[in-house]
Parts: sequence; structure tokens; C-alpha cells
Amino acid sequence: MRKILVTSALPYANGPLHLGHMIEAVQTDIWVRLQKMLGHDCLYVCAEDTHGTPIMIRAQGEGITPEALIARVAAEHARDYADFLVEHDQFHSTHAPENRHHVETMYARLRDAGYITRRPVRQAYDESAGMFLPDRYVRGGCPNCGAADQYGDSCENCGATYSPADLVNPVSTVSGSTPVWRESDHIFFRLGAFEEMLREWLATDALQPGVRAKLAEWFEAGLKDWDISRDAPYFGFEIPGEPGKYFYVWFDAPIGYLASFTALCRRTGRDFDEYLRAGSRTELYHFIGKDISYFHTLFWPAVLAGSGYRKPTAVYVHGFLTVNGQKMSKSRGTFITARHFLDHLPAEPLRYYFAAKLGPDLDDIDLNFDDLVARVNSDIVGKLVNIASRCAGFVARSGGTLAAALPDPALYEQLAGARGRIAALFDARDYAAAVREVMLLADRANQYVDHHKPWALAKDPARAAEALGIATQGVNLFRVLMTYLAPVLPSIAEAAGRFLGVPIERWDAVATPLLGVAINEFRPLATRIDRKQVDAMLSVGAPPVPVAPPPAPSASPASPARNAAGVADIKDFAKLDLRVARVVAASTVDGSDKLLRLELDVGDAQRTVFSGIRAAYEPAQLTGRLVLMIANLAPRKMRFGTSEGMVLCAGGKDDAQGLFLLSPDSGAVPGMKVT
Ligand code: MSP
Ligand code: ZN
Repeated sequence: MRKILVTSALPYANGPLHLGHMIEAVQTDIWVRLQKMLGHDCLYVCAEDTHGTPIMIRAQGEGITPEALIARVAAEHARDYADFLVEHDQFHSTHAPENRHHVETMYARLRDAGYITRRPVRQAYDESAGMFLPDRYVRGGCPNCGAADQYGDSCENCGATYSPADLVNPVSTVSGSTPVWRESDHIFFRLGAFEEMLREWLATDALQPGVRAKLAEWFEAGLKDWDISRDAPYFGFEIPGEPGKYFYVWFDAPIGYLASFTALCRRTGRDFDEYLRAGSRTELYHFIGKDISYFHTLFWPAVLAGSGYRKPTAVYVHGFLTVNGQKMSKSRGTFITARHFLDHLPAEPLRYYFAAKLGPDLDDIDLNFDDLVARVNSDIVGKLVNIASRCAGFVARSGGTLAAALPDPALYEQLAGARGRIAALFDARDYAAAVREVMLLADRANQYVDHHKPWALAKDPARAAEALGIATQGVNLFRVLMTYLAPVLPSIAEAAGRFLGVPIERWDAVATPLLGVAINEFRPLATRIDRKQVDAMLSVGAPPVPVAPPPAPSASPASPARNAAGVADIKDFAKLDLRVARVVAASTVDGSDKLLRLELDVGDAQRTVFSGIRAAYEPAQLTGRLVLMIANLAPRKMRFGTSEGMVLCAGGKDDAQGLFLLSPDSGAVPGMKVT
């Protein structure tokens, strides 16, 4: 059995997760779930990245301790990951005792082996704030093009890179004062000592071609010593023997992978050394975005090797997520937090979309919402789930037990036999190709059902057994396809497992079809997404950053628009006669696939209401239940009769299965006024 340890990059603990973070988490999660389904011993660890100046300053700004800030953000992150169905085996923090232990031990080993050196560094210093300023905290005129108010390291206008000392009229963004230049001793890691080791590593399969090319450039430029210390005040771990000096956040962040794994080992009794010692036969993979390649492909393997540990088996780098072709940006409203997305749409469609777009290389991935809606509706709902929903009824009609044999074993074998190929595509992170392949197979399955028309057979009692056979074939093909997509759609797969009566857990289980066993009632496994849900999400724009203190109403860019549309006077509400009603009868409407006809008892009268809830409710489910209705709407003549009111639902206006009837708590009676 392969023993595999997997990480994704540690999110900074000073802000919300956005869809860029999520594509990485989902990419990693799919890979890990695949390995687990294949029966490998695979562990996925991650943590909050908690140290550094931005977190310190943000906490100061909010008047709380960095620890309190981290705890709050960590709780938000945990919810976001859980709701995106990203399942870590351990989620830890870099501000944890395990991390301090590893950081100190590894630093001591590097120092004792001669890989640490020191020398003075001149840096911007804010005298009124009493602190050294990272480059990004100094702004001023670009020395190249003269553009005002540029960052201390590069110009957004002309692209020039420089040092903050070159800025025209530099200003500290911490206090607004003019910085002075001060020298202090810094501690350096001698990266150059690892050149040969890194060149060898480069020659292995550990890196993608695009990353190798980048690395070759960096080698050309020469490997410079790496400054791993920062002066107080700094939120981080103090360097032993160096009072007032702290480890730079990027030194202790990757070590956080090991700290998280240590916490897992403690909890589960695993052996840390088995995974980390030099020459270990276990596998170690890091999933990261291309912006942090330098840290993971040069510093990190060198720090690991210099401290006597193994190197990563591979670093898997992905490109950047863009939204409708644009870089995510707050000003354009394309900066979408994970939470904002979840407020409007479920996670699995996006997981599927990401999978359909992710390849093994560093190309950027564009999130196009028209494409998302089209693909999800056509692939997941129209192709995949459709197979099950078309066949389930015929099994139910024959008593709920699948036939004892498949009418077309060769077709089954065609689908089940693809499992090795599809696993290999997922394993090679070519999710796009894997998904394409699965959808081609789904087309075959649908063609099979189309061709054999179980609905036509079922009309003839003498051919009921045949219809059951076709349905059994269809259900089995569905099971195979669902298994292949289980890493991408874990909760749909779980629901499918309940329908099938056996959980979808093992990849190889598809080798044997399900025959002669009872399956369960089919319930809708996925719903179509409506472009309106997307529009609603985008029209609200980027929400105020959730970790910030609640903005004053006037400071929120979204609030004026929201108010203009949303202001209601109490008098408007009083115009509506809202009543509790009981459904006395419900039926489908000939000629409409959207409407149900409801007979409602409103206390002193009975009303007929046509309601667009057919996709979400079976008529039989509704009889007897209480609903809320608007009782004083003008009667509306429809093709099918006159509708004398409206029942209230939560959810999109006419979106199937996304609708939820509202009802009063028990005890209410028909005719009661809603106030
Ligand atoms: N804290 C560091 C990582 C330390 S790992 C030892 C960091 N954090 S981050 O929050 O800025 O980014 C976390 C991950 O999200 C990185 O891998 C980064 O590349 C990725 N992404 C951030 N924005 C992204 C997109 N727009 N698209 C895809 N991935 C992006 O860097
Ligand atoms: Zn410039």
C-alpha cells in the first residue's frame, strides 16, 4: 500500500478564502479522494498561515490580539472548506507548539551544519510606529515613470521593480510618516550551498516542465542567500539566541506542513519519522499556485535537506483562477469569496466545473459563468443523474429489486473497464480529460436507455421483465459513472450510494455489477442551476470583506443600491393579506410541467391556486400540510383555470427543487392572519 502525505498551501489567516483558494483546495481534495478510493493510505494536511506583519497590523487595527484574529478567521475558513466538501485529515496552525518545535529544531540543525550566516541589512524604518517596514508598507513615486503612490517594490504603472529607497517622497503606510533608513543584522539561509542538490532534484520527475523552465532561469540568475529573520515588533516565533529577532513568516510557513502532520501523528499514532526521514519510501506532495513556486521548489527542498529530512516527491503547481477572463479584483466585483458563492449556489457544481477545466499544467483557469451553468445542467443533471432518474421508476415498479443479470454485459464492461484509464488521468491531474472521458461514457449509457425505451416496454405487462432488465443495466451504468465522479462530487455520490443501497467508496467495486439486490427510492440527486442564481450573486458584487469589522452603512459600496431596491414601508406590508391555509387536495395540471393545482382551505373559504412547484413536490406529499398564502391577490385567469392567490416559497422563483414551501409551526390553523 502506498503511503502518501499531501498538502495544499496554507491560507493566510487575515482574510477570507476566495474562489482562487478554493480551486487549489478542490484540486487537492479530488486527488486525495481518488487515492483513498484506490485503497492507498493517503493523508491530507493543511493549516492556517498565521505569522507576519499584515496579520499583526490588521489585529492592531481591530484592537484585538493576533491570536484572537487568527481564531476568528480560522473558524470562518473551516466552515468554508467544509461547505466546499474539502476534507482535511488535519487542519492546524503555524502558531502552534508543534510548529515552534520544528522551526527551532530545523533552524538549529541548519545553523550547526553551517548553512546560516548573518549580515547587516538597510531597511525603511518608521520612527513613529517604531518598526521596520516591509517593502509593501512603503509607498511613493515610481523612480522610473514618476507615477505617484506606488508600492515599495514595484510599479503598477510601468512594471519597474526597485527598492523602497529609490521611491520619490516615500511614505510609511503604517503611520503616514516619512521613513528613515536603518541598518540591523539579519539572519540568512545559504541557499547557494544546495545548488548541486537542487540541480539533481530538478532532473527528476518532481516538477512540471513549466516549473523546471522557471527554475532554470533562477539558477541562471544565481541562488542568493535568503533572509529568514525580521526585527521586532513582529508576530511570529522569536529566534533562539537572537533576542528581538523573529523567524520570517515564509521560513516557518512550510514547516507548518510538518507541524500539522505532527498533530495528526499524535492524534492517530502514526510515525512522523517514517514519512519525513531522509530516504523515506513514503510519498510527499505539495499542491500550490504558481506565485509561490520559488518558496516550494528552491527554499523548501533545501531547508528540508539541510535539516536532515527527505525532499518532496513532487510539487504540483497550478495556474491562477480568473473570473470571466479577468484577474479577480475587488474593484471589478470579480473578487468572489467562498462564502459569497455559497450564499447563492451549492459547491458541487463549482467543484465539477473546476475539475472540467483543470489540467496538469500551469495554465490559468477561467471561470465563465455561462459556461458553468451550461455544463452543470447538461453534464451533471442532463447526462449523469438523468440515467438514474430515467431507470429508477421501472425498478421500483417491479418491487425495487434489480434484475439478476445484465442484458448487455459488454456495454457494462466498456464502462467499468475504463476505470484504470480514468484513474490514471485523475492521478496525473488531468481532471479535464478524465471528466471528458466520463461524459463520453455517460452519452453511451443514455443512448442505451434511449434505444431500449423501457417506458415503452413497461406499458406491456408481458414485457415488464425486459423493462426491468434495461433499467438494471441503466442503474449499473449510472453506478460506474458516479463512482468515477465521486472524488469530484462527494455528496452527490453519497446520496447515490443511498439510492443504490451500497456506498460508493472503492474505485474497483465497479468490477462487479449490482444484481438481484434491492435498491432504494430515487430522490433527485442534483438540481439545475439557474442563471438567475448566478446573476443574483454577481449583482450583489463583492461582499464586504467578512473578516473586517462590520463597515459603517455609508462605507459599504453595496449598501446604497441594496437600499434603493429594498426599502419597504410597513404600510406596503399591511396591504398584503397573508393567511395560513391547509392543502386539501393537490394534483398535476395537464399541459403544464411546472404547475400544481392546489385546493386550499383558508378557514372560512376554499381557494384554488396554481403554483409553480411541480418540480419540487409530489402532489401526494402536499395533502394535509399547512402553507402560507397571499389571500388578497386579484384572481388570475390562466389557461388551466383561475388562480385565486399565491403560496409562499423560499428559493429561486421558478427553479425546480430549489423551492421550499413555507409553513407555520404546528398549532397554527387555516385562516390565521400572518403578521
Ligand atoms: N500563506 C501562503 C502560502 C504558504 S504555504 C507554506 C500564501 N497564502 S495565500 O492565501 O496567499 O494563497 C494560498 C494559495 O492560494 C496559494 O497556493 C496561491 O497560489 C493560491 N491562490 C491565491 N489566489 C489564487 C488564484 N486567483 N487562483 C489560484 N490560486 C490562487 O501564499
Ligand atoms: Zn513606474
